[in-house]
Amino acid sequence: MNCIKGSSKKIYVLDTTLRDGEQVPGAKLNLEEKMEVAKQLIRLNVDMLEIGFPSSSKGDFEAVKAISSVIGKDAVVTALGRAVKSDIDAIYESLKKAEKPMIHIVLGSSGVHIEKKFNRTAEEVLAMGVEAVKYAKKLMPEVQYSLEDASRSSFEYMWKTIEAVVKAGATIINIPDTVGFAVPEEFGSLIYRISDRLKNLNPNVLLSVHCHNDTGLATANTLAAVRNGADKVECTINGIGERAGNTSLEEVVMGIKLHPEYYGGFTAINTKEIYTTSRMVSAIMGLDVQVNKAITGENAFAHSSGIHQDGLLKSKEVYEIIEPQDIGAPPMELVLTARSGRHAFTHIIERLGYKIQEEHKEEIYSDFLAMADQKKEVYDYDIEMLMKKYPKQIVVREKKIDFWELVDFEVVDNSLVSTAAVKVKRGEKISTCTQTGSGAIDALYSAILAAIDTPVSLLEYRIHNIARGKESLGKVGIQIIHEGILYQGKAIEKDIIRASAIALINAVNKVMQKATI
Ligand code: KIV
Ligand code: ZN
Repeated sequence: MNCIKGSSKKIYVLDTTLRDGEQVPGAKLNLEEKMEVAKQLIRLNVDMLEIGFPSSSKGDFEAVKAISSVIGKDAVVTALGRAVKSDIDAIYESLKKAEKPMIHIVLGSSGVHIEKKFNRTAEEVLAMGVEAVKYAKKLMPEVQYSLEDASRSSFEYMWKTIEAVVKAGATIINIPDTVGFAVPEEFGSLIYRISDRLKNLNPNVLLSVHCHNDTGLATANTLAAVRNGADKVECTINGIGERAGNTSLEEVVMGIKLHPEYYGGFTAINTKEIYTTSRMVSAIMGLDVQVNKAITGENAFAHSSGIHQDGLLKSKEVYEIIEPQDIGAPPMELVLTARSGRHAFTHIIERLGYKIQEEHKEEIYSDFLAMADQKKEVYDYDIEMLMKKYPKQIVVREKKIDFWELVDFEVVDNSLVSTAAVKVKRGEKISTCTQTGSGAIDALYSAILAAIDTPVSLLEYRIHNIARGKESLGKVGIQIIHEGILYQGKAIEKDIIRASAIALINAVNKVMQKATI
């Protein structure tokens, strides 16, 4: 693979969550939701934001107009349109109040687009592109031109188009792998060739890439492009987008951050905002983040194998290349399972303040394994219950940590109102409370939080079945914020309401310990 070495340049990041990301079926947002995401993207410090396709609907036009007028100088704001006057006019009208606007024009460059989509000659399509850029340029100084389906286009035709649209005034040339067809080595070479020529043609024009993930290569292709001279990457949060999605912003940004010399660059992304942005987009768009998703998945910083847990407890570096706090995620998690060894088990019970008499350690560890076989994952609350089974001289609570415990609860849910009554205790202190809510979980959580009287806000609540058929086992994962710090709590129970209550109590008990792992 050809590569440009040695230099360190800024790689611009354009986020298109609100345009390509919003094309995901069912992920359409209203204006208020789009605005919330846009503001978070500004906190993330993206360089450019693509916020819609104004000619597609009145709603999109109005959203682009409203959002672009509040973005200010913090980022370039752009919207997409085809190479036709009416689309360009819609972009102009919706962006004209923006402080740093840019028109984005897309036009196919591959044989299949030219023949099948447009039914025109290649020369006619090229002329359309040039006319569109010239027209856009009269309206705004910044114009990005995307050669749709570039990765399946002839190089000579692509270059002819690039030369012509740059001469017509395009300030960014975007090379999309529209259908996720590219492979990293070839895509890298393509970008190297274009970059080389573009520098001679006009060194001020940025070279950008936009990759789709149809064969799972969007991040690899984008990074190969960066290594080969791309100045700008187009991404979405959590990699959402048309079909299998786009390049995931968090993966590319952290890839470059981990290997700045290899990629010869850096981004300006405030990585500490990555996790919050990922969760916000997931919640607002109703699109779950795959549990094993790189960087932002639930398991990205969770370790369950005995060998890994043992290594991590000796030094985090053994199995951790990114610290969760670098992306603003909750601390690394040791998940106790039937594969956990004695080291991890002892670590958790000591964190909870317990010490086991030497001669009973094996017996209690076996008991733990039996519990882990049954529950699949064992959390703090389960360990507390396990410890309670043993007489005080066998299991000693050395550190005085009083955790909250669920004594009893009742939830009554009907079409008018949901009511929850809970009884919790902490040491000798018993607290009871009854609350109503808009649903069973709302009422339950209000009652628990009122009873424990700890100011926390609920950021996320997730539930899924981790067993088969009617053998259902509900796993609840929640995240809460206390004094600006994120804590997570999980629980697995047959009864999902009970799992929900215990997950919250586990999270609150982590606040008590300021638990790290
Ligand atoms: O996938 C694509 O080609 C696009 C362009 C508009 C950049 O989304
Ligand atoms: Zn796309």
